[in-house]
Amino acid sequence: MTVAVTGASGHLGRAVADELFALVEPDEVVLVTRNPDHLVAFARRGATVRYGDFDRPDSMQDALTGVERALLISTTALGRRAGQHGAAIDAAHGTGVRHVVYTSILNPIEANPSSVVSEHRATEHKLKASGLAWTLLRNDFYAELPAGALGRAIATGQLVHNYGDGRIAWVTRQDCAAVAAAVLAGDGHEDKAYDVTGPELFSGDDLATLAATVSGVEVSAVAVDDEAYIANLIDNGGLPEAAARGLASSGRAIRDGYFDQLTTVVADLSGRPARRLQDVLVASLA
Ligand SMILES: NC(=O)c1ccc[n+]([C@@H]2O[C@H](COP(=O)([O-])OP(=O)(O)OC[C@H]3O[C@@H](n4cnc5c(N)ncnc54)[C@H](OP(=O)(O)O)[C@@H]3O)[C@@H](O)[C@H]2O)c1
Repeated sequence: MTVAVTGASGHLGRAVADELFALVEPDEVVLVTRNPDHLVAFARRGATVRYGDFDRPDSMQDALTGVERALLISTTALGRRAGQHGAAIDAAHGTGVRHVVYTSILNPIEANPSSVVSEHRATEHKLKASGLAWTLLRNDFYAELPAGALGRAIATGQLVHNYGDGRIAWVTRQDCAAVAAAVLAGDGHEDKAYDVTGPELFSGDDLATLAATVSGVEVSAVAVDDEAYIANLIDNGGLPEAAARGLASSGRAIRDGYFDQLTTVVADLSGRPARRLQDVLVASLA
């Protein structure tokens, strides 16, 4: 069976491609990207690399020709993603693709205040109504994100957050990739949604403790409200205001309990334990 990965030159796409090589024959792998030149190494390993851009649906039709199952990796064009993903689903429908696997977000319900949720929810609805078989990979937030913030916390001795008492089980991209590859290569995943989380729930206090344990430096958690968190991200983190507000909306979602969820999907589908945040942090500090 021929399987495709869109957005294949990004972090997740490359990781999925790597995982796929262990599960299917290289000549069954089609990698779709706006940057074929970036995937020459995968082409050398036997994958087919094709140009495809959600903003050019005709290119997606060409790219997905002969493909039976496709992983649609959500894009980075915040505010335009629902349209892009919808165009990609329509393009897939016009080819031989029978089954689309989509990288969504944990708990994409209307009440979830994270700014990334609405476009994922719209894409989920579009895919479910498309007539294609679907699988939703509701990925938690990536563990690589707090690992970066923890580096700053260790440097300053303060972990500033707006999570309140909320908790989250960050998951690594590689584990998300392993789940995606297992779904692409396996059977019985049609019309299912998987909540893909890391192996441990962390509060803001837990994160500060982890940072202190790993670094040997005293780190205290400082819980602030959304506006103070945004100001801190802009003034001390150097983020543009829009990005700071987006992060704060996700922090609020954690505070409100929308990410307080722990599953065994990574281990169940990939056959190996989900990677611990501590290990990601240690690696990022090395
Ligand atoms: N769960 C989380 O915490 C979290 C955090 C950040 C992002 N995300 C989502 O997860 C996705 C994958 O994460 P990542 O770390 O791999 O991100 P990344 O490295 O920034 O890669 C983003 C991918 O989006 C693809 N893309 C952008 N515009 C596109 C277009 N017009 N048509 C088709 N593809 C397009 C790119 O594909 P090509 O360049 O290969 O064409 C690229 O590979 C992100 O795009 C985002 O939707 C999730």
